[in-house]
Amino acid sequence: MTHPEKPKVNLPYFDYLLDSLAQKDPIVTQSFGRHVHWGYWSKPSAATLTSDDFALAADCLSQQVCFAGNVSSRQIILDVGCGFGGTLAVINETHSDMTLHGLNLDNRQLQRAKTLVQPKASNTVQFHQGNACALPFPNQVFDRVLAVECIFHFPDRAQFLKEAFRVLKPGGILSLSDFTPKNVIAPLMKITLPKPFDVGFYGHCRVDTPLRRYHAIANQSGFITTIENNITNNTLPTYRYLRKIGIQQKQLHFTALIETLTIELLSRLHLLDYSILAYQRPKH
Ligand SMILES: C[S@@+](CC[C@H](N)C(=O)[O-])C[C@H]1O[C@@H](n2cnc3c(N)ncnc32)[C@H](O)[C@@H]1O
Repeated sequence: MTHPEKPKVNLPYFDYLLDSLAQKDPIVTQSFGRHVHWGYWSKPSAATLTSDDFALAADCLSQQVCFAGNVSSRQIILDVGCGFGGTLAVINETHSDMTLHGLNLDNRQLQRAKTLVQPKASNTVQFHQGNACALPFPNQVFDRVLAVECIFHFPDRAQFLKEAFRVLKPGGILSLSDFTPKNVIAPLMKITLPKPFDVGFYGHCRVDTPLRRYHAIANQSGFITTIENNITNNTLPTYRYLRKIGIQQKQLHFTALIETLTIELLSRLHLLDYSILAYQRPKH
């Protein structure tokens, strides 16, 4: 198998988070010390927007991806783009006899994940540094592959889907969350700004694959589409929460403000959706 060149980690928001965590910033630690993703509120109107409320919503998004992937005890699971290991922590706390693997490009994040996710008695946890588009695992070893809010960073969505298919056992499921633009704005999302403006606060983000195209790419890899949930409304309190904590931060990140407001506006206009998708590798 040929391995594409390992992409470099260029995610300014993680530099900011790791710096704030090193300084023990209490708001950043509580909001993003475990998960680095948007939250899920089953009742968005009941969001209280406290740090505890956001931390619960962040756990809840991981749980939703696990439900969609039918995660259950005695499985071998790979969480790709695992961040600080929050989704594996949730699975470790709620399931037994699990063999858990986390993969990330960024070794700094993995170091934190190793301290945060201590396996329960019957579970095991291992972390691997690597690229989601060239998974360092043999064929057909995992029951589930999870990818929570990270695929838009990967160099090639189709290549990742092929790799996820390859490492899943027959009957195994890939469950993911990702931003999916409506067809009408998808061509605009392909425009990349000239350097140095192409990276911004959130790094390179390829939010250019509408749902139908997503399914087509997954189906070309051999997957069957099993779940398609539009959860945009359940994520919207995140933006009010980010505004609230942004005001409390010492430094104002102008690019973060502009990029987050743009994502919020597109989401509220339902031009950009937040989706949970699950794809199954056929049993035979
Ligand atoms: C928004 S964070 C989500 C982290 C985690 N899934 C969570 O929900 O807390 C995106 C993650 O994707 C990882 N990532 C980006 N490109 C990657 C790649 N090519 N291979 C593996 N991980 C990658 C980043 O390092 C980061 O941890």
